[in-house]
Amino acid sequence: MTENGRSYCGNLGIADAGREVHLAGWVDALRDHGEVLFAHMRDLTGIVQVVFSPELTPSPVCELAGTLRNEFCVAVSGRVQARAEGTENPNIETGSIEIMVRELSILSPSAALPFAISEKAMVAGGTASRVDSVSEDLRLQYRYLDLRRPSMQQHLVRRYRIVKAARDFLDERGFVEIETPVLTKSTPEGARDYLVPSRVHPNHFYALPQSPQLFKQLLMVAGFERYFQVVRCFRDEDLRPNRQPEFTQLDLEASFIDEEFIYELVEELVTRMFAVGGVTLERPFPRMLHRDAMDLYGTDRPDTRFGLTFVEATDIFAGTGYSIFRQILKQGGRIKGINVKGQSEKLSKNVLQNEYAKEIVPSFGAKGMTWMRVADGGLESNIVQFFSEGEKRAVLERFGAEDGDVILMIADASYDVVVSALGQLRLHLAGRLGLVPQGVFRPLWVTNFPLFDPTADGVTSCHHPFTAPDREDFDPGDRAGLLALRSRAYDLVMNGEELGGGSIRINGREMQQKIFQALGLSEGEIEEKFGFFVRALDYGAPPHGGLALGLDRVTSMILGTTSIREVTAFPKNRSAYCPMTQAPSPVAVEQLEELGLLQPGEAKQIPGAGERQELVDTLSWVSRIGLQASERPGIVSVLADAMRLAEIVENRAGGDEPLFSPVFPKNHMREKAPACNSPLAESGELLKNAPSVKGNYFKVASILD
Ligand code: AMO
Repeated sequence: MTENGRSYCGNLGIADAGREVHLAGWVDALRDHGEVLFAHMRDLTGIVQVVFSPELTPSPVCELAGTLRNEFCVAVSGRVQARAEGTENPNIETGSIEIMVRELSILSPSAALPFAISEKAMVAGGTASRVDSVSEDLRLQYRYLDLRRPSMQQHLVRRYRIVKAARDFLDERGFVEIETPVLTKSTPEGARDYLVPSRVHPNHFYALPQSPQLFKQLLMVAGFERYFQVVRCFRDEDLRPNRQPEFTQLDLEASFIDEEFIYELVEELVTRMFAVGGVTLERPFPRMLHRDAMDLYGTDRPDTRFGLTFVEATDIFAGTGYSIFRQILKQGGRIKGINVKGQSEKLSKNVLQNEYAKEIVPSFGAKGMTWMRVADGGLESNIVQFFSEGEKRAVLERFGAEDGDVILMIADASYDVVVSALGQLRLHLAGRLGLVPQGVFRPLWVTNFPLFDPTADGVTSCHHPFTAPDREDFDPGDRAGLLALRSRAYDLVMNGEELGGGSIRINGREMQQKIFQALGLSEGEIEEKFGFFVRALDYGAPPHGGLALGLDRVTSMILGTTSIREVTAFPKNRSAYCPMTQAPSPVAVEQLEELGLLQPGEAKQIPGAGERQELVDTLSWVSRIGLQASERPGIVSVLADAMRLAEIVENRAGGDEPLFSPVFPKNHMREKAPACNSPLAESGELLKNAPSVKGNYFKVASILD
């Protein structure tokens, strides 16, 4: 019994049999047996069956119950009763009891639902309704309904518990949570900033923080020594799986420490967070140099749950007669490969040659792939005839090859191309062949990153410019020297995902200035962007370092969800858009004028500024493609065609007319409505502009998640 005598659905059990209870919640599901109406009632704790039976329920209540629909918000009173033998429902925790209702109030009715919310079958052996087939945008549009689903509620409740475990642990270790500003100045973390115009300071902008990096370092200068924060960060970056434009970090920083302090602290922290989800992590976490990660896995976030590590083969072919390899090696190129052990039955010649060598590997950026199957102690493929006996022997030996293995090699003039393509191939094969063990968690520290990455004409920070280099005696003008530097940065990686990253920082003004110079910033730019920060380094800044975990990613990993959107209450969709609030949205011209963002009369040039814009302007704006006046008519006409086609399709979709399809048609969605091939497909017109075609299919870039 709780407040106002209310009981909770999920807390009731056989021990409550005979008790009078008052429940409040939602109608999860209904089953009408003529005379008797069964309902599943759901609240935050779970589900219980309530029964409206003419024998025990007053007839006006039975009548009212007849008007119930799914997701009505209701209160009921009644007596708990053990279910008759054989009618128990193992699908719900409270399946051994039911509530015989005496009173019912409809607190709030519900409109027809856009998708099913119920996740529990009402009868033993029944299947629950699922939302798997509902489009994610529809779920996001009605997120408040989507979040009623018990599985989604569990995700958020468990997220809270994971964060609480982290807070408790950091508190134990003497860390203090301190809030840092959201309206601030740009922090360089490699993404674009979200800008917020200031009304009080016309033409001046705040930036939303990409991370609290500078503030946490200033807190170290201020002497707090151990800081942490569960903090929202904002990054306007290219969309990828497991990235959100706003996301949460568990950010921390400490003074008078070194890398070992961070490793020990974060391993314990992460272990406790995973323990909340029932996952035990083995410690200490292994460590791998960044160079080895690239050399063996082709990525700085290796998935170490399975093998298929790279084997170096460049030296084997140093004097080869095989002309493709010879050419590549002449250009200083590299040859690396993997041994796919015992999979030659699953990887036929056709799959290797026509799928992998011709299509999949080129889509990873390499020109091609060399494959060899191992049989009768030798190598079989379309090119081994060009290898010398010595080369064949060396390959078999170096790759530890046995009958039934498949050896795949990628050769290219560029080391980066070789390792990147082979890394993607490794993941592709592991997925296809089912080599990735599920329910296994392999944490890994990746260390000794380069300090800088090359750009077209200079360098950029690999992490961020506040990371300490491994040496101090470098010349900021010597690009090659800069690219050879290593940093004191570390990433925490798990199962191929970057969960967190950090570094030991620079704590002297001179070194910080030198890094900014290396990045090509002038004295004026350093002062303008980071003057406040470098000045602070003049005042006894202690040695310090830290790390930030991506909290959404950690939670998603612990709970095994398909994306971080599943553990975020109100995420943006894959286009950084919120289908529920429709943000981002246009604002009134007056608002822009008030912010000083428009000159009078300029409104028409800014799409979304309140007035209806030409479609072509909006498209060129969102796709960031500037249009010459001479190009407009052509684009306008193409758009008009596309709109006309869209209208035709839309009109037909609702009517009796068949839809057009470029492939042999089968209408799965509407069995009765036949589909037919588009005449344009038959004439070849339909696919004539496709960059790549397979059969009747237009090939598009792979979808990320
Ligand atoms: P970094 O940029 O590596 O480091 O970010 C830390 C962690 O944040 C997560 N993350 C994201 N999660 C979801 N969506 C995104 N768009 C996104 N971007 C990053 C990742 C990443 O590992 N200031 C430094 C930390 C430090 O040096 O202490 C920083 O922000 O899991």
